[in-house]
Amino acid sequence: MFGAGVLATALVAARLASAALYTDVKQLPTSTFDFVIIGAGAAGNVVASRLTEDPQCSVLVIEAGVNNVGIDSVAAPFLAGTNLPFSSVTWNYSTTPQASLNNRVLPYSRGRVLGGSSSLNFMVYTRGSDDEYNRWANLTGDEGWAWKNLEPFYFRNSRLVPPADGANFTGQFIPADHGHGPVEVSLPSFPSVLDDRIVDTAKASAEFPFNIDFQSGDSVGVALIQATVGGGQRSSSAVAYLEPSLKRPNLHVLIENTVTRLIQTAPVDGKPTFKKVEFAPNASAKRSTVTARNEVVLSAGTLNTPQILLLSGIGNKTELAKVGIKSTVDLPDVGEHMQDHPILSNYFTVSSNNTMDDFTREPALFNATLQQWIVNKTGPFTDPPATGVGFIRLPDNSSIFQNVTDPSAGPRSGHYELVWTNSFAPDVASQPATGHFVTIHTAVVTPTSLGSVKLASSDPFTFPLMNPNFFATEFDRFAMLEGVKGARRFAATAPWQDFIVERFGVMGAAETDDEISAAALDSVVTIWHPTSSARIVLTIWHPTSSARMSPKGARHGVVDPDLLVKGVAGLRVVDASVFPAITACHTVAPVYIVAERASALIKEAWYLK
Ligand SMILES: Cc1cc2nc3c(=O)[nH]c(=O)nc-3n(C[C@H](O)[C@H](O)[C@H](O)COP(=O)(O)OP(=O)(O)OC[C@H]3O[C@@H](n4cnc5c(N)ncnc54)[C@H](O)[C@@H]3O)c2cc1C
Ligand SMILES: *[C@@H]1O[C@H](CO)[C@@H](O)[C@H](O)[C@H]1NC(C)=O
Ligand SMILES: *[C@@H]1O[C@H](CO)[C@@H](O)[C@H](O)[C@H]1NC(C)=O
Ligand SMILES: *[C@@H]1O[C@H](CO)[C@@H](O)[C@H](O)[C@H]1NC(C)=O
Ligand SMILES: *[C@@H]1O[C@H](CO)[C@@H](O)[C@H](O)[C@H]1NC(C)=O
Ligand SMILES: *[C@@H]1O[C@H](CO)[C@@H](O)[C@H](O)[C@H]1NC(C)=O
Ligand SMILES: *[C@@H]1O[C@H](CO)[C@@H](O)[C@H](O)[C@H]1NC(C)=O
Ligand SMILES: *[C@@H]1O[C@H](CO)[C@@H](O)[C@H](O)[C@H]1NC(C)=O
Ligand SMILES: *[C@@H]1O[C@H](CO)[C@@H](O)[C@H](O)[C@H]1NC(C)=O
Ligand SMILES: *[C@@H]1O[C@H](CO)[C@@H](O)[C@H](O)[C@H]1NC(C)=O
Ligand SMILES: *[C@@H]1O[C@H](CO)[C@@H](O)[C@H](O)[C@H]1NC(C)=O
Repeated sequence: MFGAGVLATALVAARLASAALYTDVKQLPTSTFDFVIIGAGAAGNVVASRLTEDPQCSVLVIEAGVNNVGIDSVAAPFLAGTNLPFSSVTWNYSTTPQASLNNRVLPYSRGRVLGGSSSLNFMVYTRGSDDEYNRWANLTGDEGWAWKNLEPFYFRNSRLVPPADGANFTGQFIPADHGHGPVEVSLPSFPSVLDDRIVDTAKASAEFPFNIDFQSGDSVGVALIQATVGGGQRSSSAVAYLEPSLKRPNLHVLIENTVTRLIQTAPVDGKPTFKKVEFAPNASAKRSTVTARNEVVLSAGTLNTPQILLLSGIGNKTELAKVGIKSTVDLPDVGEHMQDHPILSNYFTVSSNNTMDDFTREPALFNATLQQWIVNKTGPFTDPPATGVGFIRLPDNSSIFQNVTDPSAGPRSGHYELVWTNSFAPDVASQPATGHFVTIHTAVVTPTSLGSVKLASSDPFTFPLMNPNFFATEFDRFAMLEGVKGARRFAATAPWQDFIVERFGVMGAAETDDEISAAALDSVVTIWHPTSSARIVLTIWHPTSSARMSPKGARHGVVDPDLLVKGVAGLRVVDASVFPAITACHTVAPVYIVAERASALIKEAWYLK
């Protein structure tokens, strides 16, 4: 039978033939481009799309991963978790042993596909509060990063679209806070049994106040999620920015090729310059190079951007010597000060059968629902797994503030986050064979632990040493404890009385503060526990700040406020690694804001249209 699959394959092939998407260096029309962008992730695709708006400007993007087109597990929002942590569209990374977690090693997911982690993430769209960006402006000495000055850039990134199944969300967003950009953002299309309960609790609560729109600049409170979903499908940077730009003759994209280092070229303005980019399809293949006439833009993400800088000799001279790499620019902050949000799962059994548990448990139901999504782009798989989020502040009189200065950016940012999922959240562990659950994840969104990315070897195909350093500080442990207790208080409010039965799992069994803290840190030494994911502390996969911005002339930091690498000419970094401080929100919207402003800065510097 000639089914839809054959037709789809033919359509994909036809589309690729006319697009400037290559898999082999031999297909490139030339070896010199105005700009070479490394990484077609959340940020890289924005820059590629914006720069090629000028037809005179030629751009090559080099991406290690594969094409996103036609991969249902990437496109169907509900399937977001199914590629984690190790698959053909991820980097298969793990953290270094975490000292505060009894040396456990945690999976560290990153997208290795067009769209990068925006093709893999859970699609929660949160700009974060105005305080976050005003702090960036303060930390960089550049008012251009202040919230009020970023308005054109966040409006340029996204626009609100109706939910796929036409649910009525009047009164749950502020139209004026939404923009006109290509990333489509929508509220849930398939109302879950949690939605009204979440909103009802919030509307009656001082501790967990209802937030009518997280995009307004005030990030504190609780709401249903706004997700990067349009027409029932994931709206990644590949779908929103790259695909529509591929028809431009001045945009070239080489996939399935990994950048191995930058090669030094003739100095410009007396500064070291790296306009030659080396890459290869795999470790045993011959390396090739291309050259940028104007600039190289490094958008390989928080884990790989420092890796590529270090492989090019840009970093701490002493550390580079240890792995046998010759120093080209002594820039000791490369790979330092990484931050990430630790998260864990709090499970509760519920009295309703109306959760998503059966969809992942019963193959016939799963197949029928997937079929509905494939054919009509409707039904329960049009929504991401999570349905609501909240950003909550610790009270001002919280005992931790006797010891620690408040690490939040300001009063409109939360300290911890709650995330609601209408099932036993399919993290990296299997769900129980029977039963119905709600999961409330708790995450610390103002962590004070600092981690790092270092080289394990001079071989670019050896994974770097990635250390988020979770729970290294008293503050982070305290905030997680308060988050777990906050989740329990939320679950005990009136709207949940007929619904939640009891706490479940190892975390659920913990009663006292000491027991909760111990369960959170866990004494079991393992990558993950196959039957009880309550034992898992995993990251929410928001690493940032490993090549952070600092003021012009500052000795710390890696890039200036215009994102140019300090002491180097013609090399910019545009991705989550430049955040001067991690934002107390999900990170993709802030990455988009950085990339939109970066594109404007580059266009201005090179007089592009
Ligand atoms: C599982 C998961 C869930 C998440 N959930 C959310 C969420 O719900 N909401 C949210 O806002 N954020 C979420 N995030 C975070 C968000 O997706 C990231 O912060 C964002 O995508 C980072 O953008 P980036 O451009 O810095 O890096 P990326 O999007 O990761 O892009 C980097 C790109 O560079 C490529 N690359 C790396 N090294 C090389 C090399 N040597 N040569 C060539 N190419 C290379 C990579 O393959 C990748 O395509 C999640 C992330 C993950 C992994
Ligand atoms: C990750 O593992 C999958 C199989 O589990 C494999 O297909 C893929 O090539 C691996 N990716 C990398 C970068 O090692
Ligand atoms: C940043 O904030 C601090 C404390 O409020 C202030 O002293 C400093 O001048 C600010 N720096 C800049 C560049 O605005
Ligand atoms: C949508 O909801 C709003 C507010 O609850 C209500 O006023 C409006 O009538 C609803 N619209 C439709 C079409 O049901
Ligand atoms: C590496 O890439 C080369 C060139 O594309 C290819 O011929 C070879 O089969 C690849 N090797 C592996 C191990 O994938
Ligand atoms: C560079 O690395 C060395 C060795 O790890 C360390 O001792 C030194 O403090 C680092 N230099 C700076 C400026 O951070
Ligand atoms: C849930 O399903 C079980 C088994 O089919 C049934 O016995 C039970 O009554 C159902 N509960 C509710 C609340 O519908
Ligand atoms: C579900 O679909 C898969 C893949 O198409 C198939 O192998 C399996 O038999 C189906 N299961 C059921 C119960 O329909
Ligand atoms: C798709 O939608 C049509 C029209 O509503 C419906 O008849 C059909 O059954 C749907 N197909 C699937 C697979 O759900
Ligand atoms: C903080 O203040 C609130 C209300 O004023 C009070 O109920 C609470 O006990 C105080 N907490 C601490 C730790 O002092
Ligand atoms: C503050 O520090 C003291 C002394 O190190 C410690 O005993 C106390 O537990 C800390 N307070 C909090 C709230 O962590």
